[in-house]
Amino acid sequence: MAESMKGMKRTCRCAEVTTQKIGSEITLMGWVQKARNKGGIIFVDLRDRSGIMQLIFENGSVSESDFEKAGRLRSEFVIAATGVVEKRGGAVNENLATGEIELRVNYFRILSESEVPPFPIEENSKTRDEVRLAYRYLDLRRPDLQRNIMLKSRVMSLTRQFFAGEGFLEIETPMLGKSTPEGARDYLVPSRIHPGCFYGLPQSPQLYKQLLMCSGYDRYIQIARCFRDEDLRADRQPEFTQIDMELSFVDVDDVIDVNERFLAFLFKEALDVDVKLPIERITWQEAMDRFGSDKPDMRFGMELHDVSELVKTCGFSVFTGALEAGGSVRGINAKGQGAMPRKKIDKLVEFAKGYGAKGLAYIAIGEDGSLKSSFGKFMTDEEMDALVKAMEGENGDLLLFAADKKKLVYDVLGALRLELARQMDLLDKNEYRFVWVTEFPLLEWSEEENRFTAMHHPFTMLMEEDLPLLDTDPGAVRAKAYDIVLNGNEIGGGSVRIHQDDIQERMFEALGFTKEAAHEQFGFLLDAFKYGVPPHAGLAYGLDRLVMLMAKVDSIRDVIAFPKVKDASCLMTKSPSRVDEKQLKELFLSVVEE
Ligand code: AMO
Ligand code: AMP
Repeated sequence: MAESMKGMKRTCRCAEVTTQKIGSEITLMGWVQKARNKGGIIFVDLRDRSGIMQLIFENGSVSESDFEKAGRLRSEFVIAATGVVEKRGGAVNENLATGEIELRVNYFRILSESEVPPFPIEENSKTRDEVRLAYRYLDLRRPDLQRNIMLKSRVMSLTRQFFAGEGFLEIETPMLGKSTPEGARDYLVPSRIHPGCFYGLPQSPQLYKQLLMCSGYDRYIQIARCFRDEDLRADRQPEFTQIDMELSFVDVDDVIDVNERFLAFLFKEALDVDVKLPIERITWQEAMDRFGSDKPDMRFGMELHDVSELVKTCGFSVFTGALEAGGSVRGINAKGQGAMPRKKIDKLVEFAKGYGAKGLAYIAIGEDGSLKSSFGKFMTDEEMDALVKAMEGENGDLLLFAADKKKLVYDVLGALRLELARQMDLLDKNEYRFVWVTEFPLLEWSEEENRFTAMHHPFTMLMEEDLPLLDTDPGAVRAKAYDIVLNGNEIGGGSVRIHQDDIQERMFEALGFTKEAAHEQFGFLLDAFKYGVPPHAGLAYGLDRLVMLMAKVDSIRDVIAFPKVKDASCLMTKSPSRVDEKQLKELFLSVVEE
């Protein structure tokens, strides 16, 4: 039986009631977390998005018929209750913000009843993800998810507040745009009016925001939904949100400056965390050399050591072979892990192989300084000692080496470094370590396409001093591109854009675009640039990733109200789904069955 509110008005949320309210009459509305019937008295924990308040229903405080009605209350019933705030009769509940008080109900109504939910609505649910996501509307009632969703809302409003104060304009850009498949795969939307034609959903507002700079808006911001049809991971969703910005008449330092102040403001206001400015900057090359990653987690050391020079003439053919093939030999020192059992080391070797390594060589240094190694028999004692010294090895350390093509060595050791940090419990979620990674390579070689592709996008400016390399050694050209990295996650990235048409032409050439192909895809932007284009630069944050780290959770699913699962489907609405023949016909489409 569901009743109306019949004139009752909520006066505040459950956890907004304080001891100062003792003696006052208030009205709360929310969900029954739990009801306990103790005979003459019924205790109910009432929940809303602020938290929980204990209600007591006693025969006499409420009418006899209402007391009977209270006996029917079950979890997830929605009720409205009016009563007087009292100091708790029983023990204080330290776990609740409202643990010292309770509400003695004198009148209440059952606004709706609930079936038994498929899982309990509680913090840190142990229920399987698939069940939770199929009933996401119930899952979203859980306090931990509600905190994340509320934090995200706060982050969005602080973002708008900060950038409005800095003179940024919030401007919307289209969702139905042109498909420009440079980057991830586009999501396509068929046109009914133009048979055989498709819109592309934006992977980012990149082209539009550059056009807005051409149009003179000089500082743009948008909290923009983006769509990318790529394989999902814990930090990737097919649709996600960017805090997207673009600025005119600026260079790298200007973009970094306003964003550092933004991050400091945001973390202070939302989390009361002080971000020390300026944020450290390292170049891409330094990030790779020291951490084997372009998004280094700087909360711990365990940096890579390049020992190529040292082992060039040693007797271990795995090392010398890799070097002769133009590769590299590098290692990391897992401090204090020298006593790691052989089985566990073998697991690390398997882990490394998962990243493409052919093997992983190691030296375990005993507490007495003795060496155990997978390749000791190929080396002289002097060579081993020199290697240990170069690795800053001390008694009790474990040294791990990879020998291969340089890129693979970076990948393997970069991943191994993180895996060891996890095992050694070096990652503190309460610590926020930011770093700017700058001077990314402009181009990267694609084996698949047998050409250079843009590492960021084709409009990224290169460092002026590297311009001559564009023809002679394209792979070595550095870009005016930067990423902002937090605890090993790329939370944002951007670049200075090319605004000089001769450089843009050379860039397209380097990418293997003919003039015609470039105009076919990006003609409107290139045309716009003919009519007065300001130098401009920008950046976009992955809002979901940023909030994920602020909320200290492991997946962006936990900060998105209605996320998709690994195969890009929604378990609640069961999308994507088949559509009627009629709908297909209207769109001049037919489905080819596999
Ligand atoms: P980029 O492609 O680096 O740059 O994207 C910017 C940021 O968006 C986040 N991100 C994602 N988050 C969740 N799921 C995804 N699938 C996903 N893909 C990216 C990342 C990333 O750092 N237009 C440029 C920005 C610019 O140059 O101004 C762009 O989109 O945190
Ligand atoms: P092998 O001679 O193949 O038995 O290798 C001797 C040791 O070197 C083993 O511990 C292997 O795991 C390791 N190893 C093999 N290939 C590589 C490589 N490319 N980089 C580092 N170590 C390797």
